[in-house]
Amino acid sequence: MSKLLIANLKMNLEYNDILEYKKIIEKSDITNFIICPSNIYLTTLLSKKYPVCAQNGHYLDFGAFTGEVSFKQLKSIGVEYCLIGHSERRNIFDESDDDVRRKLNSCIENGIIPILCVGEHKKDRENELEKEVVSEQLRYALDNLKVDKLIIAYEPVWAIGTGLTPIEEDIISMHSYIKSVVKDNTKDVKVIYGGSVNETNIKDICSLDNVDGVLIGGASNNPNNMLKMYNLVK
Ligand code: 13P
Repeated sequence: MSKLLIANLKMNLEYNDILEYKKIIEKSDITNFIICPSNIYLTTLLSKKYPVCAQNGHYLDFGAFTGEVSFKQLKSIGVEYCLIGHSERRNIFDESDDDVRRKLNSCIENGIIPILCVGEHKKDRENELEKEVVSEQLRYALDNLKVDKLIIAYEPVWAIGTGLTPIEEDIISMHSYIKSVVKDNTKDVKVIYGGSVNETNIKDICSLDNVDGVLIGGASNNPNNMLKMYNLVK
């Protein structure tokens, strides 16, 4: 089965770049691809060719929360996926494990497929605590939840935007560990890897056992680069 590729554009690209992005991707033969832009571009990017994914959502459906967007609202415009608990949300915007759990619940209740992001900090890895940290994040977020379909992005914080990646054995072992932790929550789980994925390492990473795809940040911002990466793993 082909690998799932997700482009996390983060807070990048302007409107004209997004129009160009869409044009290039729609003309291509890409499949199993999800695009995750800033909220303002979600509607612009809606397409029959690929689903769109939001980067965040508020756990309440409606209310006086200036500047926020709820999962209910995202669903109403056709958003099919949402990132939950990305490390930039946890670390820069102080999202707690409680916030992550509430968001995950609301996301599921509104019929959006969650892409739950987990990963250890450099210090945890140095102290060989990566499995403890990640299982804690998973157990806290998922608790006794039963989910039809779940995507988990394993993104070591120290690998994001740094050009560093874990050694292959560690990626394999973390992915199989994550699958074992969530096996009672869902039968349909994909575990994808994120953190400095690019044209040089995508083929090797995607060929590893238990790696169902990748969540790509910086290298996904250029649509031609994105297609190059897709062609390397298809
Ligand atoms: P980079 O690919 O830029 O390291 O970002 C990874 C990431 O955070 C994807 O969500």
